[in-house]
Amino acid sequence: MREIIRAKNSGFCFGVERAVHDSFGFITTHGRAYTLGPLIHNKDVIQKLENQGILEISINDVEKLKEEDTVIIRTHGVPMAVYDELKARKIHIEDLTCPYVINIQRKVKDYYDRGYNIVILGDANHPEIIGINGYCENSAYITKSGALDLPLKGKLCVVAQTTEKQSNWETLIGNLAKVSKEFVAINTICKATEDRQKSAEELSKEVDAMIVIGGKASSNTTKLYEICKRNCPLTFHIENAKEIGTIKEKIKKAVRVGVTAGASTPEWIIKEAMENL
Ligand code: F3S
Repeated sequence: MREIIRAKNSGFCFGVERAVHDSFGFITTHGRAYTLGPLIHNKDVIQKLENQGILEISINDVEKLKEEDTVIIRTHGVPMAVYDELKARKIHIEDLTCPYVINIQRKVKDYYDRGYNIVILGDANHPEIIGINGYCENSAYITKSGALDLPLKGKLCVVAQTTEKQSNWETLIGNLAKVSKEFVAINTICKATEDRQKSAEELSKEVDAMIVIGGKASSNTTKLYEICKRNCPLTFHIENAKEIGTIKEKIKKAVRVGVTAGASTPEWIIKEAMENL
């Protein structure tokens, strides 16, 4: 008999829950709206939103919008310049930037204005980091794993992408201590990320196979996968219940199967996957 065990903290975080809830709510009262990129990294939710009138456009397509259109800002946030452009074009803004991301943007702006150079731990191509970098005139030194391969000058302020791994943060701080006399380190890894990573870490040590559910483009889901894979070789990243068919053979001998899900994976997808397992 197979035992399916779900990680204590998994699935929608506070920021994503709010963004999805408010977007569906917005549609019932206002009708159509646009998001600059997918609202969250989950194709099933995006499809539902699209069916109801929330359409995804590229950040480069802002010029195609008309006055009085509405743009929903995603949890990842956007650079300051994007707010300016939307306002100049008289476009309504429904701002659903996660408050934890707003906190990073404010800190970065504050320290940058006070003469600090900004260091960000994260993925330079991720919209959250592109957004944060926009609060220091795109001048940040961005490191993906904590390695420092360029000389850093002056006073430094260091922050992290909300979905970063604690181990990368510790690597970066260790490396900074070797090259910088004065730096302010603000660990901005969000609590929801931390809790999900800890639960996944613990569970993946106890099970025969581990299933990580979430979008392939989701940064926090990918990190959960990496953490679980270290402890449990039979770890698989799937987007939804349908994909269980592709791994069925590989986990057929697994008696204890752990399940975790990224912060942008809705409850109904997790339940369906658990039932299929
Ligand atoms: Fe916000 Fe953390 Fe979720 S930053 S969007 S609560 S993963």
